[in-house]
Amino acid sequence: MNETRNGLTRYSCPYCSNTFDSFEAIKSHIITDHKTELLPEPEGMIKLTINGQKYKIRVEPEWTLYYLIHDKLGLTGTKLMCDHGACGSCTVIMNGRAILSCMTLAIECHGKQIETVEGIAAANHPLIEEYVKHHCMQCGYCTPGFVVAAKALLDKNPHPTEGEVREALAGNLCRCGTYPQHPKAILEAAKKL
Ligand code: FES
Ligand code: FES
Repeated sequence: MNETRNGLTRYSCPYCSNTFDSFEAIKSHIITDHKTELLPEPEGMIKLTINGQKYKIRVEPEWTLYYLIHDKLGLTGTKLMCDHGACGSCTVIMNGRAILSCMTLAIECHGKQIETVEGIAAANHPLIEEYVKHHCMQCGYCTPGFVVAAKALLDKNPHPTEGEVREALAGNLCRCGTYPQHPKAILEAAKKL
């Protein structure tokens, strides 16, 4: 790391912030004083796993997890409807729990395991087939959020009652009114697990 002051280039040590006049000087300092230390992560760098794939990415403090997944990593299955934590369409699974990616900062996700609808589809989870069979979507915009919420439920409770299914989906809104179909699909998927 270097910086220019009054026309002079100075080198700042990334470990202790001492500065040096030349590259040779900072090199010698690091070899002598910090030989066994790992290079500190640049600010904003996070590591996380999404659908089994490891990512190391620099994020801005205001980025949401939704923005990271959808806009930066191109996993467009996750949808944004309200952007206010009210509709559930942006639901993803984080460390086994259904969470709202529009209300979660990306910077908070360092070290986390994330699962999106793409990962659920790639694993051929029975939910996918049952959702199609039971016509659980009209415009389909809310559907990924429902599928992800259902997957989080079945991971914890593979044989839920209809009441438990309805409770697990209580945070998901559908403007097309597909509500009656979801419990049917989820209960059928549960039989195949
Ligand atoms: S878009 Fe996140 S809850 Fe509605
Ligand atoms: S299927 Fe259109 S919003 Fe749910």
